[in-house]
Formats: sequence, structure tokens, C-alpha cells
Amino acid sequence: MIRIEGVQPYYESERFVLYHGDSLEFLRALPENTVDMVFADPPYNLSNGGFTCQGGRRASVNKGEWDRSNGAEADFAFHRNWIQLCRHVLKPEGTIWISGSYHSIYACGYALQLEGFKVLNDICWFKPNASPNLSCRYFTASHETLLWALKDPRAKHTFDYDMMKNGSWSEQDFLKKPGKQMRSVWSIGSARGHEKFHGKHPTQKPEQLLERVVLSSTRKGHLVVDPFAGSSTAGLMAWAYGRSYVGFDLKKEYLDLSIRRFEALKREKEKEITPQRPMIRPFRLYEVG
Ligand SMILES: C[S@@+](CC[C@H](N)C(=O)[O-])C[C@H]1O[C@@H](n2cnc3c(N)ncnc32)[C@H](O)[C@@H]1O
Repeated sequence: MIRIEGVQPYYESERFVLYHGDSLEFLRALPENTVDMVFADPPYNLSNGGFTCQGGRRASVNKGEWDRSNGAEADFAFHRNWIQLCRHVLKPEGTIWISGSYHSIYACGYALQLEGFKVLNDICWFKPNASPNLSCRYFTASHETLLWALKDPRAKHTFDYDMMKNGSWSEQDFLKKPGKQMRSVWSIGSARGHEKFHGKHPTQKPEQLLERVVLSSTRKGHLVVDPFAGSSTAGLMAWAYGRSYVGFDLKKEYLDLSIRRFEALKREKEKEITPQRPMIRPFRLYEVG
């Protein structure tokens, strides 16, 4: 497990480590060529006073100060900066996943190209339960994009083709046909109620999405780094499937939520589930290592 020299982790357990602070500084301090996969769910730069619909009510789209746009040029410079730092820490065969909406994903994609990554796929994450559009002047936004890219275009990246094709994904995704190749459009609903049992993060990703990301592009024992951890959904799935995880976040409240989620998962794995404490998720697909 890698450590950042001279910096005390905010939380540390076997194969699951969290640091509090600016990920750009932490990425700069990590050793070169050591990371197997980066999962990055960066600010989407969409918190500028708009409105959406939640539970049938008008609600602000503002996620927090960290999600504000500083204009196209400054947003692009930020994305290019952290993507460059991720490239430095990735192994040549290492891959990066970046999630985003149209507010941010083109900047991230262009930065990946400028930094010499090979884009392997752009996944369309279709959200069948997306909120309706209140203004009725636009199409209802019902997808996000995940870019998946390889550091060194000549290197051989990890892809579990067989698990993607033959795993029991169809139970959760009506677009995935049993025994057929996994396509680049995934239908997965937003984080379910029980995933928010330990508190809410405004942009929490569903476990099913991260399960697919982790299982497709890493192997047991791989190291996953998450520069924008939030409630650490990537970390839970990485850890649950025998990978190691290092996550960074600016906000202690999100790291505290990550810790609650992680410790509940650990108890669940140790079979300490009580009727009062629901399971975080059923481990249906594959045996947990
Ligand atoms: C889109 S959210 C990630 C949500 C996460 N994937 C989850 O499932 O909960 C982005 C997170 O990045 C954090 N963040 C923003 N800028 C950061 C920075 N420079 N360094 C570290 N964390 C940052 C925010 O506090 C926020 O929690």
C-alpha cells in the first residue's frame, strides 16, 4: 500500500486509506508509476444557481463551493492539471476513469488527449430514474458520461472481458443481454435508499456503477486512487473486491461519511449484520475476496 511521506492519513484500515486535503498536492507527492487505476469523479462545474426537480419538488442544483464553475478556461486548466498529475502516478498500463456531464466532460476529454492518453471507451451511463425537466424547454438530462483511458497507448491494459460478457449483469440492467458482449451504454439507477443509510453526499455514485468499473478494469490486489473521493463509493467497491484504495477529499464531513460506510461494509463482510442495520448491498455477482 502506498503512503504519502510526511502526511498522516485521515483514516487507515487494511487496503483502505483516506487523506484529507487537496488532491492536487497529494497526487504531486505520490511516487511515479505506482497506481493501477484512477477513478475520478471531479467537480462537474454545474453549481451556478440553477434548479432541478427532486422528489417532485423544485430544488437547487448547487452541490457546494467545490462544484462552482470559474469559467471555461479556468475549469479546463484545473482539469488538465489534475489529469496530468494522475498520469504521473499511473503505471504505463494503468487506466483512468473520469465521470462527468456535458458541463465538464469535454474539457476532461480534451485534456486526456493533450496529455497523451488513449481513450478506450466513453461509457454512456443511462439513468432510467433521472429527475424530470422542470422548465419543459429542454430534453430531460438522463445520462452521464464516463471516459476510460490508458496512460501508455503501447501498453496492455486490464479488461475482464469474460466477466463483463458472462456476469449476471442483466438482473440490474435491462440493456445487457445475457451472454452477449457488454456494450458502452449502461442502464443503472441513481444511488438507492439503503446506500444513503449512513448519510448523504450530494453527488454520490451508485454502487452498481462502481462495481462494474472496478471489476472490468482491475484485478485483485490492484491499487485504485480516487482524487475526489466524496463518500468513497469507488473505495467501497474496490475494497469489497480485494483491491486497495486511496481516496482524497477536501471535506472532512465527506470523509467521515466514507468511514461510516466503509466500517459498515466491513462489519457486513464479517457477518455482523443485524436486522436493525440493513445490508449495504447484496454481494450477488461474485465472491468477495
Ligand atoms: C463529484 S464528488 C465525488 C462523489 C463520489 N464519487 C461519491 O460516490 O460519493 C467530488 C468530490 O470532490 C471533492 N473535491 C473537490 N475538489 C477537490 C480537491 N481539489 N481535492 C480533493 N477533493 C476535492 C468534493 O469535496 C467532493 O466530495
